[in-house]
Amino acid sequence: MIELPCEGLRVFVSATPAEAERAVAREITELLTRAPEAVLGLATGSSPTGVYQELARLVASRRLSFARASSFNLDEYLDLDADHPQSFRRWMREHLFERIDLPRKRARFPVQDARGDSSAAACARFEGELLAAGGVDLQLLGIGRNGHVGFNEPGSARSTRTREVELHPWTREDAARAFGALELVPTRALSMGVETILDARAIRVLAFGERKAEIVRAALEGPIGPECPATYLRGHRDVRVHLDLASAGLLASARAVGLDA
Ligand code: F6R
Repeated sequence: MIELPCEGLRVFVSATPAEAERAVAREITELLTRAPEAVLGLATGSSPTGVYQELARLVASRRLSFARASSFNLDEYLDLDADHPQSFRRWMREHLFERIDLPRKRARFPVQDARGDSSAAACARFEGELLAAGGVDLQLLGIGRNGHVGFNEPGSARSTRTREVELHPWTREDAARAFGALELVPTRALSMGVETILDARAIRVLAFGERKAEIVRAALEGPIGPECPATYLRGHRDVRVHLDLASAGLLASARAVGLDA
């Protein structure tokens, strides 16, 4: 793993995603060893999957426990049942929660309650729970093809907090295969805001593969602003971006150290 000289955040390039995933899982293990009641911010999708596999392996071998920890997921589709095959609650159950010892009642999502309160009330409740838990110690993030973090789509202001959002066409297109058809993909979601994400004490971003190379370049080296919400991460006091050779391939900083050769 080598570190690239980047302004505003630390960028690490690994030979393989597995190397980066082990490094992030190690950090989470160190955090939970030091502070068993730590609060984790979690993402769904392909980017964190390997980290979750590694965490499940560490729990199975009793080298890690989430028994006193809590978690807050970044986002969830609006009006999707918790058991819907594509809901993020189900995804998290299948990829992580069923395989670790995190008490389920301390795994939170921005979702409406059983009585179907308004999305504004659900978002306010989520922010309140986050505050009561003392804020996120370590937030895991992926980056969407359009530069979104959470579901903060292009156009999102830096000052946004958890709220109802409209999904960008690319976000819905990317989800269409899993849902079976574009029309079946929800058009709206509840998502932590940019500022909510930036409140985390540490942020670890994962982006692998050639299909992320373009947006990684925009996020790390393009102009900071709402067109690419991932650019807001630059300047956070403790953010590390983990890339592989393919996703780092278009970075000027990678060329500068001969990594693209
Ligand atoms: C997921 C989320 C999204 C994803 C992003 C990247 O909870 O909020 O921002 O992190 O769309 O998705 P993958 O990792 O599937 O490429």
